[in-house]
Amino acid sequence: MSQHPDQQPTSPEENRGQVPAGSPVPGTDAGADTPTGADGAMQQRDFGRTGLRVSVVGLGAGQIGEQDVTEAEAARVLGSALDAGVTLIDTAATYGLSEERIGRHVAARRDEFVLSTKGGQALDGHAEWTPGAVTASIDRSLRRTRSERLDIFFLHSCPVDVLRRGDLQDALDDAVAAGKVRVAGYSGDNEHLTYAVESGRFGAIETSINVVDQANLRHVVGTLARDAGLGVIAKRPIANAPWRFAERPVGHYGELYWERFRELGLEAAVAGAEGASGLEWNELALRFTAYAPGVHTAIAGTAKADHLRSNLDAAAGGPLPADVLSAIDRAWERAGSAWPAST
Ligand SMILES: NC(=O)c1ccc[n+]([C@@H]2O[C@H](COP(=O)([O-])OP(=O)(O)OC[C@H]3O[C@@H](n4cnc5c(N)ncnc54)[C@H](OP(=O)(O)O)[C@@H]3O)[C@@H](O)[C@H]2O)c1
Repeated sequence: MSQHPDQQPTSPEENRGQVPAGSPVPGTDAGADTPTGADGAMQQRDFGRTGLRVSVVGLGAGQIGEQDVTEAEAARVLGSALDAGVTLIDTAATYGLSEERIGRHVAARRDEFVLSTKGGQALDGHAEWTPGAVTASIDRSLRRTRSERLDIFFLHSCPVDVLRRGDLQDALDDAVAAGKVRVAGYSGDNEHLTYAVESGRFGAIETSINVVDQANLRHVVGTLARDAGLGVIAKRPIANAPWRFAERPVGHYGELYWERFRELGLEAAVAGAEGASGLEWNELALRFTAYAPGVHTAIAGTAKADHLRSNLDAAAGGPLPADVLSAIDRAWERAGSAWPAST
C-alpha cells in the first residue's frame, strides 16, 4: 500500500484499527473543557491572531491522497468530516491526489472549512526553496483545490538556513498581498521551528505534537508561539497509532514512535491514575494533543470514515484528567525529555 510522502511504506505487521489486548489504559474521566457546545456542535477555536477559526480536531488529508484509496472513500471522509463540524483540512502539494480530491469533492463547500496546504519543493523549472517554486506551488494548489484563496500556505519543512535568507517569506508576503493566501505559515520542527517562530514572519505553524513527541510542545508551542499569537496545527497527533503494531513495524513511518511508546512505559505509568480507567490509547493520545497548551487543532490523519468518527468521539471527552496528565509528565521527564521532535 502506498503512503503519503510524509510517511514510509506500511509494514506487513500492521494491525490496523486493533488495540492490542491489554492496551486499554485502566480508569476514565471527562474534562471540563469539552469539544462540543451545548448544541452538540464541535468546539471551534480562534486560530491564534489570524482571524480564522478552526475545530479542535482537524482532518489530516495526507491519507486520502494515496492511490489505493478510492474516490468514493476520499469523498466519504471529506464529506463526513465537514458534516461532523470539522472546519480545518490539512493537505500538501506532495500528498499525491489529496489536493485534487479536495477540489473535486468539497470545493462546493469551500466556505465551510479552513484549507491548509504546503509546498516549496522544486516545480516548473524552479529549484526547491526558491521564491519561484513557492509562487508556482501556491498557484498550482489554487488550481488543484479549485479555490480562490488558500487560507494557510506552509513552507513544507525547509531548513533553518533557507529561512534565514528571508526570500521565501517575501514570496509568501507577496502572495498574501495578492489575495492568494490568507496566512503565511511554517511547517517544521526543532531549531527550524524555533527560528520560524522567533522571526516574526509567520502567522501560523504546523508541527509534530503527541504523547511521545513533546519537544515542540514544551519548548515552542506552549511558550513562544502562544506569546506570539500564532495559529498552531498539531501534526501526527496520535503518534501514528503505534499501539496497533504488535511487533516493531520495521521500515514503517511510525517505527520511531513505536519505540518511544514502549520506552516511555506509558501503560505502567498511567495504570495508577484513577482518571485513566476505560480510556483507549487513541483516545488518550488525541485528548493529550488536542487540549495541549497552545494547540488549536489536532489533525488526525485517516482515509477511513470509521476512524474519523472514532477520533471525533475520542476527542469529545475534553482534556485528560489531571492525574493522567501528571503520569504522562513523569514518564516524559524520566525517559523522553532529551528526545528531539520527529518531522
Ligand atoms: N507538515 C508535515 O511535514 C507533516 C508530516 C506528517 C503529517 N502531516 C499532516 O498531519 C496529518 C496527520 O499525521 P499522520 O497521519 O502522520 O499521523 P497521525 O494522525 O498521528 O496517525 C495517522 C495514522 O493512524 C491511523 N489512524 C488514524 N485514526 C485511527 C484510529 N481511530 N484507529 C486506528 N488507527 C488510526 C491512520 O491510518 P488509517 O488511514 O488506517 O486510519 C494513519 O496511519 C497528515 O494527514 C498530514 O495532513 C504533516
